[in-house]
Amino acid sequence: MPKIVKKVLRKISKCRETCKRKKTNNDVINSLVNSKNIYLNKIGISLRAVILDEYTETERATFTKLEQFRQTLIRSKQLVQIEDFGAGNSESTRTAEEMSKGSVINYSIGYLASSPSSRPAYARALYKILEAFDFANCIEMGTCVGVSAAYQCFALQHNERSRLITIDGSANLCKISRANLTSLGLTNFEIRAGRFADVLPGLLNEVKTVDYVFIDGHHDERATFDYFMQLLPYLSDVSVLIFDDVNWSDGMVRAWNLIQKHEVFTAVIDVQKFGIGLIDKTSTEKISSDIFKITIEKSCFKKY
Ligand SMILES: C[S@@+](CC[C@H](N)C(=O)[O-])C[C@H]1O[C@@H](n2cnc3c(N)ncnc32)[C@H](O)[C@@H]1O
Repeated sequence: MPKIVKKVLRKISKCRETCKRKKTNNDVINSLVNSKNIYLNKIGISLRAVILDEYTETERATFTKLEQFRQTLIRSKQLVQIEDFGAGNSESTRTAEEMSKGSVINYSIGYLASSPSSRPAYARALYKILEAFDFANCIEMGTCVGVSAAYQCFALQHNERSRLITIDGSANLCKISRANLTSLGLTNFEIRAGRFADVLPGLLNEVKTVDYVFIDGHHDERATFDYFMQLLPYLSDVSVLIFDDVNWSDGMVRAWNLIQKHEVFTAVIDVQKFGIGLIDKTSTEKISSDIFKITIEKSCFKKY
């Protein structure tokens, strides 16, 4: 077959796949938006905005400001020594003991603001979900240089009772992200330095109930499941859990597969990288035993 024909056929097949994905996306989004559960509606409306790039002028101005902030960090070559208590890369075989002991690594701020930090489309999804709810106690596990924290704090500004408590094992990253969030004029946050295993129990006891948790660090199968179990007794009647990187490694896939089946969830939504669980204790109805699967198209990543 001539090369040009092969190329055209490949393009047609790619186009068909995109159309099919868009149709499935539309169907899933419609079922969320039209669900009888008002909280699932909120999540559906938030994700629809990200997929269709539908934002208010104020939101666009905020996102532009936050992406400029990210770009400034990306340009920084300053090295930071961090104590890493995470799982390493997706192929790492760090033992629980090694992760608990931690390892010291030097990274540039520029690297930390790009690869490990939530990409714009996902950061906007966090923003839209938080903006749609009226959550007070929000926790982030994994601050890094504060990119996702900045998005979440801006989203929480509509409610003066709301605050984000973000945890990171690296004291140096906590210092840097504190300065970063302050430079953006944010005051609705607290940053706690320490391993999740050390900080989380005390924090949960202190806040008593949690409305929202973004789990974006220590992508280890056992640890992720353990954090989920620790959070369970503290979740408020209506709460949202967002797990990042649920496809990052075989272990994370297994952890997410187990977590998403837990009876605490009223509905579970899978947005590629993100696993979102809605807990609505006021409703006795499980919305669907199927997972709502949504794809954020590559075109969304190019914006901003
Ligand atoms: C992927 S980065 C977080 C990115 C950030 N949420 C964002 O999107 O801008 C993960 C962070 O979790 C922290 N971390 C990993 N394992 C940890 C642990 N066991 N305890 C505390 N912090 C941990 C790392 O130091 C790192 O800064």
